[in-house]
Amino acid sequence: MARDGQGLEVGSADAGAIEALDFLREEWLVFGKRFQTFMEAADREERCALLPVMAANLALSMNSVEGRALGARHLKHAKSMEKDASTRERAWIAATTAWLAGDTDKSLAIHEKMVAEWPRDLLAGKLGQLHAFNLGDAKALLRIGERLLEANRENHFAWGMCAFGLEECHRLDEAESHARHAIEMERKDPWAHHALAHCLEARGRLVEGVAFLGSMADTWEDCNSFMYTHNWWHLALFLIDLDRADEALAMFDQRVWGVWKEFSEDQINAISLLARLELRGADVGGRWTDVASYVKDRLHDHFVPFLDLQYLYALARAGEGSAVTEMLASLEDRAESAKPFERETWADCTVPAAHGLAAHAKGDHVEAVRLLGQAMPHLGTIGGSIAQRSLFGAIHLDALMRSGWNDAALKILLADERERPDIPATKRGLADIYRRLGRTEQAMAADYQAQQLVRRYTNVKGAAA
Ligand SMILES: [Fe+2]
Repeated sequence: MARDGQGLEVGSADAGAIEALDFLREEWLVFGKRFQTFMEAADREERCALLPVMAANLALSMNSVEGRALGARHLKHAKSMEKDASTRERAWIAATTAWLAGDTDKSLAIHEKMVAEWPRDLLAGKLGQLHAFNLGDAKALLRIGERLLEANRENHFAWGMCAFGLEECHRLDEAESHARHAIEMERKDPWAHHALAHCLEARGRLVEGVAFLGSMADTWEDCNSFMYTHNWWHLALFLIDLDRADEALAMFDQRVWGVWKEFSEDQINAISLLARLELRGADVGGRWTDVASYVKDRLHDHFVPFLDLQYLYALARAGEGSAVTEMLASLEDRAESAKPFERETWADCTVPAAHGLAAHAKGDHVEAVRLLGQAMPHLGTIGGSIAQRSLFGAIHLDALMRSGWNDAALKILLADERERPDIPATKRGLADIYRRLGRTEQAMAADYQAQQLVRRYTNVKGAAA
């Protein structure tokens, strides 16, 4: 039986199929964009089921109605070759079938078994991590990363994939060293850059974050739009926390929004960045209107709740009232028809969070506090990374502060300060709350710390210029 570059047996594969699969694995793991030739080869393939099943996974990862239809077509093609397929190929077909049916808990379970049995199958791990990510299952994300690394210690991608799992499990020191090891092995590993960006973000190491990502950005030019816009999005987050919102807004225009405006991942990077800029007082002009025009046809998508919530916020901020109403109703329907494994996510988190975000977007902060407060304890289940989900925490905090929930806001700000001690905006928030509570000395101290940090960051920027 033929074997691919990872030494894995591939049933019924000729040399051309092996070459296509090897190319796909590397291109996927480096977040490239040269997939068209592979998709065409998968269409033509008549013997090896693995080609169309991989094409189906690529299509499904688009998070779109068109992607789902394309995925279904490729999966059907793969199934027509199933009788000659190996056990591993059948597992791929089963996992993809479950994904198409919306049984992502089952997909994740199959991918975990695949990684246990064939840990050299890096794409089985990659897709398993995608499902874990979308299900908010950080432990599974890490388990898969660790198993891959055990069997692929010579492979920098495996180090980067494990690093991200460690980071999402709050094991930041190990995550950082794994990511740095990956980059030492191969500088052009955007997922390892990304894992390290998360580590720096989690500790508020802002100056380092800007310097590090800036030093790697030249390697992202061949990346697909998700990885390209997402790594620039991470750089913009550091700039916002450094009080350099003007530069972050310019980055929105130049790097984050405009590569592939129809793609879900580009859209949520844009939405999250605009929302964060506004929370820090920036005027984003007519940008919501442009972004919302691209998410208007996603009212009934419901692929991942984490995506839906951001689409909804964009529509609400753009003043698309009827679209918001329609999407809220659709989300309620989705929650009612949720499968047991996803009921908490949709009913306890997504629906109240969606109503809370809509309330915040129109300035009803009391209602936003009530509804987002219901959702927050379940937030981890909606998918996305810690850094991405922190947007919802920031909106909740904004609503608390604007509606006078001083004690609750203080508790959150103090927790933020413990985790990320050098953020000027956090200090200013604390000063604001202390003033309201009549704690004048603490207010003055927090204001002074904010000014000192701004001065320090201005000096660093001046020295770097
Ligand atoms: Fe990220």
